[in-house]
Amino acid sequence: MYRLAGFGKMIADRGRLDAHAAALRRLVTPSSVVLDLGAGTGIMSLLACQAGARRVYAVEPSGAVQILAEAAAANGYADRVVVLERRSTDTTLPELADVIVSDLRGVLPPNDTHFSDIIDARARLLAPGGRLVPARDTLWAAVVSTPEAFDERRAVWQSRPHGLDLSSAQRFVDNGIQKHDARPEHLVSAPVQWASLDYPTLADTALRGAGACEIARAGTAHGLLVWFDTALVDDIGYSNAPGAREGMIYGQMLFGWPAPIALEAGDRVAFELRADPVGSDYVWTWTSEIEGQGRVSRFRQTTFEDFPRSAASLRRRLPGAAPALSAAGAEALEVLEGMRAGRTTGEIAARLFAAHPQRFRTVDEAHGRVAELVDRFGE
Ligand SMILES: C[S@@+](CC[C@H](N)C(=O)[O-])C[C@H]1O[C@@H](n2cnc3c(N)ncnc32)[C@H](O)[C@@H]1O
Repeated sequence: MYRLAGFGKMIADRGRLDAHAAALRRLVTPSSVVLDLGAGTGIMSLLACQAGARRVYAVEPSGAVQILAEAAAANGYADRVVVLERRSTDTTLPELADVIVSDLRGVLPPNDTHFSDIIDARARLLAPGGRLVPARDTLWAAVVSTPEAFDERRAVWQSRPHGLDLSSAQRFVDNGIQKHDARPEHLVSAPVQWASLDYPTLADTALRGAGACEIARAGTAHGLLVWFDTALVDDIGYSNAPGAREGMIYGQMLFGWPAPIALEAGDRVAFELRADPVGSDYVWTWTSEIEGQGRVSRFRQTTFEDFPRSAASLRRRLPGAAPALSAAGAEALEVLEGMRAGRTTGEIAARLFAAHPQRFRTVDEAHGRVAELVDRFGE
């Protein structure tokens, strides 16, 4: 969940903001209905009003969107903005949108439930012939030389603090990915396109692609650097390539290798990169085949192995497993049943406290637990 400072940084990325303002000016007419999907503090809603929209629905589950109501009034748009504090998947609109504007990406477009949320909103909330902003993302990869990022990721585990060997963490660390802000001179190959996303037709929530980079200058390489460019509408968009602009919110993602590799101009790096949705997040897998000077190095890495998984947790998830309800699960069920029975939050907390005096020191503590569940599952 973003803090206000996070939303502020997104607004401060002027390249991103100005491109959205231009895209909305291009698409919005005085009769337009706009859905601001994932409104945050509502900046895109205000830009849509500025572009002349008749009505803007700002949909956002975070309380941050409450800032919009006052901001809409302050800017003279109070009668055009409707704030809906909820997820888009829990939303129906009294009229379909002509334009859906969203930015649900993380560093890269495969992020949380971005793709399934867009597919859902496109099917249920967009008018026939309506437009999605962004329209298209193009994903790029290049081989990068970045000794600082390589060391930052591994150094502590190799540093033998107090003479202690911590190298058992290394194989997990080597499967991690990290946000990076590279400079153009860090790239040792030209970028290659490995995937593209066309939001008006997107159907698959997984993303897979491959490419081959030819090394342009000799250097020690540390992995693949990946970023996206976006086309919001037609020719209006922006790039997140290294050095593309000041104050860039996204940066790039580093898919590092487990070892630095010395490369010469003309060497070749072939790769496959995939993002597979698992629950409400993505598992990234990248394989690299590095050929040069008569040697071939091959690596296969996956964020599925970037942290030791609990064997018990993996067993419980198997289709044939029949896991019993834990004490915390039984407690959650009591709260949910209390909600279904129409009890007040206070009544549910009092019953929970009475039923589990060993788990809660006070009724207020039980109320805290109820509040969490009510926030998550209540309406
Ligand atoms: C990256 S922020 C973008 C904020 C703002 N629209 C902007 O562009 O500056 C993404 C926001 O989308 C919200 N969000 C994610 N999925 C959503 C969904 N399915 N429905 C509504 N909001 C969603 C998140 O809570 C977050 O505040």
